[in-house]
Amino acid sequence: MDTRKKKGLLDFRRMKEEGEKLTWLTAYDYPTATFEEQAGIDMILVGDSMGNTVYGYQSGTLPVTMDMCIVHCQAVRRGAPNTFVMGDMPFGSYQTTPDDAVRNAVRFFKEAEVDAVKLEGGREMADRIVGIVAAGIPVMGHLGLTPQSAGAQGGFRVQGKGALQAKKIYDDAQALIDAGVFAILLEMVPDRLCQLITEMAGQDCIIISLGSGPHADGQLLIYHDMFGLYPKFKPRMAKVYGNAGEVILEGLKSYASEVMDGAFPQPENWFGMADGEYDELVKLLGKK
Ligand code: KIV
Repeated sequence: MDTRKKKGLLDFRRMKEEGEKLTWLTAYDYPTATFEEQAGIDMILVGDSMGNTVYGYQSGTLPVTMDMCIVHCQAVRRGAPNTFVMGDMPFGSYQTTPDDAVRNAVRFFKEAEVDAVKLEGGREMADRIVGIVAAGIPVMGHLGLTPQSAGAQGGFRVQGKGALQAKKIYDDAQALIDAGVFAILLEMVPDRLCQLITEMAGQDCIIISLGSGPHADGQLLIYHDMFGLYPKFKPRMAKVYGNAGEVILEGLKSYASEVMDGAFPQPENWFGMADGEYDELVKLLGKK
């Protein structure tokens, strides 16, 4: 039985204080969550990137619903009972009103036993964050490239390359910290902007980088990008740690050819019956 102690906000703050980097990965299902917990990953994000990686929607994250997120969070929770799990608030679950934001964050907590929620956006989301934090739920912000509004951002591109846009992201980070987030994900912003925000956040807030360089308090990668499991697209910033996608494809081709040429199944792949029982069965069936 796994006796790993689950890390929480106090542990993350201590890690930040001691300069120990945090590891964070996405997972959407039970087996992946099990592996990530075994590997000692600090936090799991059940991201609405499931819209791409699991469901293959053309429009990415936008069709993902609260009900879908909750089912996936429940599976991840079962696979990783001793890991900090974060539910990603899907498009439409918090943009509408602060009340909707609180109601949906509470659903994540009650129905899927997550430890925190994440939402995208800057100062315009401050009232949602205040409401959710007041309900006792830790919130992570998400700035830089925010996939739910990628269309309005001109597509999937680095954000904050120019000084003016970088200043806006910096100010938004300050507004999120003032609203009470315990952490902010910076996705695809320049490394030096990430460094400035990490320094500004000090001990008040944990900064995590996705493609935003090494100066943050921790790193996030999308699991499917790490293992070649999303053949349609590999973001430049993702590192591939093993090509599971290729291994699976080769395995599938071998299976198909072995079934066709009779190499599968072999005796170890089926179950037999004792001679006496078989003879009795033949008799019962009235066969010779
Ligand atoms: O849904 C997700 O996995 C995310 C990442 C892209 C950060 O929000």
